[in-house]
Amino acid sequence: MSKVILKGGTIWTADSVYVADIFIQDGIIKTIGQDIQYQADEVIDLAGKIVMPGGVDVHTHLDAPVGETTTIDDFASGTVAAACGGTTTIVDFATQQKNQGLVETVEMWHEKAADKAVIDYGFHISVTDLYEGSMTDLGKVVDSGVTSFKIFMDYPDTLMLDDGEIFRVLQAGGRYGAKVCVHASNGKVIDRIAEDLVYQGKTGPEGHLLSRPPATEVEAVNRAIAISRMADAPLYFVHLSTEGAAYALAEAKDHEWPVDGETCTHYLTLDKELYFKPDFEGAKAVLTPPLAGEKDRDALWKGLRTGSLSIVSSDHCPFCFEQKKIGIDDFRRIPNGGSGIEHRIQLMYADGVVAGRLTPQQFVDIVSTAPAKAFGMYPQKGQIAIGSDADITVIDPDGVTKISAETHNMRTDYSLWEGWERAGRIVRVFSRGEEIVRDGVYVGAAGRGSYLKRRTI
Ligand code: URP
Ligand code: ZN
Ligand code: ZN
Repeated sequence: MSKVILKGGTIWTADSVYVADIFIQDGIIKTIGQDIQYQADEVIDLAGKIVMPGGVDVHTHLDAPVGETTTIDDFASGTVAAACGGTTTIVDFATQQKNQGLVETVEMWHEKAADKAVIDYGFHISVTDLYEGSMTDLGKVVDSGVTSFKIFMDYPDTLMLDDGEIFRVLQAGGRYGAKVCVHASNGKVIDRIAEDLVYQGKTGPEGHLLSRPPATEVEAVNRAIAISRMADAPLYFVHLSTEGAAYALAEAKDHEWPVDGETCTHYLTLDKELYFKPDFEGAKAVLTPPLAGEKDRDALWKGLRTGSLSIVSSDHCPFCFEQKKIGIDDFRRIPNGGSGIEHRIQLMYADGVVAGRLTPQQFVDIVSTAPAKAFGMYPQKGQIAIGSDADITVIDPDGVTKISAETHNMRTDYSLWEGWERAGRIVRVFSRGEEIVRDGVYVGAAGRGSYLKRRTI
């Protein structure tokens, strides 16, 4: 029976900010109040610190085959990095390979994560191959707690589903109460533009940007919304990057259609100019959809403030520079993905709250509460309330964080935010009441994370 009191911190939740003590027993928040005097094994003074629900990152790719390689962080390194960055729950994408069963895919992801993950984790299933019986298998997957599916409108030769198949998966989602997550980019058009660029000798990383103009995202978003109306099923867009997409979601919300979406840390903070860096450096920013421009960033921040977008995820899909060099002669072969699981909360705190773009409540909502609600984990996760898991992140507002590949915990040998210095420092992290990060260093046991069987929506 462990008993801990977190004393005098300033508690930030998605709807309030107040100073209080938190009493934790056996990993659960038991009491929140003023000057709690219960017997405890430990009393931790958090006066002057921000105390928020642990981050919930619903978009990661750990130990995942992508293109011709595999992401460099596994469930051990990736979740340690997540924890050090204040994230206490992830939902990772279990991606079906062609000719692989859906149940088998989820089993494979359980093997990857068990005994390695140090924070609690769930899975989405990425559906890429509709075999006979696949819809029945989706039902079994949902029963096991994997209550969201991802579909691709991109990568025609490997992952893409056609419109009829998307319709079927949406219908299944509606039937089983599962959320369908859409990667919205018009893959067929992208492939044609990319082919032309290579034919013209434009084989460098900037080809990734040029082959994916904003309209390839906006068209796919609008098409997916239309198909979801036909299937009468809810929809969630992953990694939205453009002004047009943010507007399409605002319009869908105006109609009160059940359409929701996320953007990612990199779309809010980085610019497409990175693709033009010399010496193949632009490859480090090859992720999909590509980084965009200032007016897109402004629209995404506005979307988060007004509610057309509700979540910021990392889309952590990490590769070392050497892996990116697979595409040295042809940008189409550069593995798509960036690494950001560790700095999502730090950057949203600094560039969101400190920069005056988000209120504390909006910040907590988009990095913790809204993702927990959207994916069947609330109020166990994403909340500081009596009965919730004591997953708690402590930020020192007087601290400073300097981002560098030399000091981060991810296995990537570069950072897209290299050298960025930002206000605030994540100093302590608790997962189910256990202190797992102290002074920014992981101090928990190996493999202590638990699988989260998520609820349907
Ligand atoms: O570039 C990205 N986003 N890679 C990860 C796979 C995906 O589409 O989310
Ligand atoms: Zn995607
Ligand atoms: Zn992704």
